[in-house]
Amino acid sequence: MTNTHNYDWAIDRDYCGQILRGRYSTALKKRVASYISLFRNINSTVNPTIPYISAWKDSVDRSIWYEFVGTRLLMLLQCQSCEAAELFRDSIHKRCSFEFSDDNSIIKEILLKENLNGIRGKLRDQVKNTGNVEAVYKVELRDNSSVWLKDQATLETFPDDGVCLSIGALTDVTREMELEEQRQQEEDKLRLSHAELEKQLEKQNKKLWQTQLDIVYRLAQAAELRDNNTGLHLTKMSYFCNILAKTAGLNSTKSTLLFHATPMHDVGKIGISETILQKPGKLSSNEFEIMKTHSFIGAKLLSGNDSPLLKMARTIALTHHERWDGTGYPNGLSREKIPLSGRIAAICDVFDALVSQRPYKNAWPLDTAFAEIKKGRGTHFDPHLVDLFLDNKAQFKNIHSRFSM
Ligand SMILES: [Fe+2]
Ligand SMILES: [Fe+2]
Repeated sequence: MTNTHNYDWAIDRDYCGQILRGRYSTALKKRVASYISLFRNINSTVNPTIPYISAWKDSVDRSIWYEFVGTRLLMLLQCQSCEAAELFRDSIHKRCSFEFSDDNSIIKEILLKENLNGIRGKLRDQVKNTGNVEAVYKVELRDNSSVWLKDQATLETFPDDGVCLSIGALTDVTREMELEEQRQQEEDKLRLSHAELEKQLEKQNKKLWQTQLDIVYRLAQAAELRDNNTGLHLTKMSYFCNILAKTAGLNSTKSTLLFHATPMHDVGKIGISETILQKPGKLSSNEFEIMKTHSFIGAKLLSGNDSPLLKMARTIALTHHERWDGTGYPNGLSREKIPLSGRIAAICDVFDALVSQRPYKNAWPLDTAFAEIKKGRGTHFDPHLVDLFLDNKAQFKNIHSRFSM
């Protein structure tokens, strides 16, 4: 391990290394001396690359020192060569490394100063494993300006001496990195404004949805008022249908949609004369035929818009008077050919009509109304839905008492 050769020729007044003067192997000293000789030749302040030889011991104290460092780095840091290693380490503000991923895209890893200090040992081990370094450092200078230096180095290990050498060059890539930073900032700005736009769009869509609900609800209410009904019928229909839809297994999106679409079931009554709508006694067969057209009129009023809300409202308006046995109107559909939303609305509509007070009738007691629904099981109404309806009487009673005047 002791030095038998003299490498004094490689030691100049700027030499602040430890190897050439220390008790290290000839192989290591020879290597360091030959690199110093080579780097002195290419070292010049006009050369954009800064050659260096750094070293550290692979033991507990792993601090780095320079065996050689290019003049240009000393000028940038405004320091002597023996201060350079420590000062350079403390001036690194950011470290970026680039790697190719499996799909050939570039993965950029950025470490900021505060995170760097804790993982220098880990980075050193990574470098030792790969045998080379390629990273870009943002270095803050004494005059508060900064430069970007690209570091490319090869590692040589000397196990007998417990020393690692990093033979490398730093290249000034400030211009390229500043452009990259600018591009990044623009990208961040774009991403932010995109997110802001999306937020605004979501807000507007919500507002549009509320407006849509409001308009159709007012229209439905206008139709109900002409029929001597109160708005409460619509509110109760929403809740009743929502309960029945949930118990029938509809997901929350569909049952919520049904909640909002149901109030429009009789919107077609806008097209029926008040003489018929408000006639206290039984309708003549001719009047009943006219009354039946409210399903078609409603469906027509709600057609031509493909929003899920209006599509469901249209289906309900068209089919809420169909009957399970096929004797309903307007199309005489039977069983599952009647859309589920129409079958649900049919039960809830009849139930609420029975339990509500009207100018021409008293409200039926709840149990009598439940019995009437049961009577229509398999003829007027979907038998399975009637079972679910009767299994959940408590919920329907609760809604009824909450909204009855
Ligand atoms: Fe109706
Ligand atoms: Fe109704």
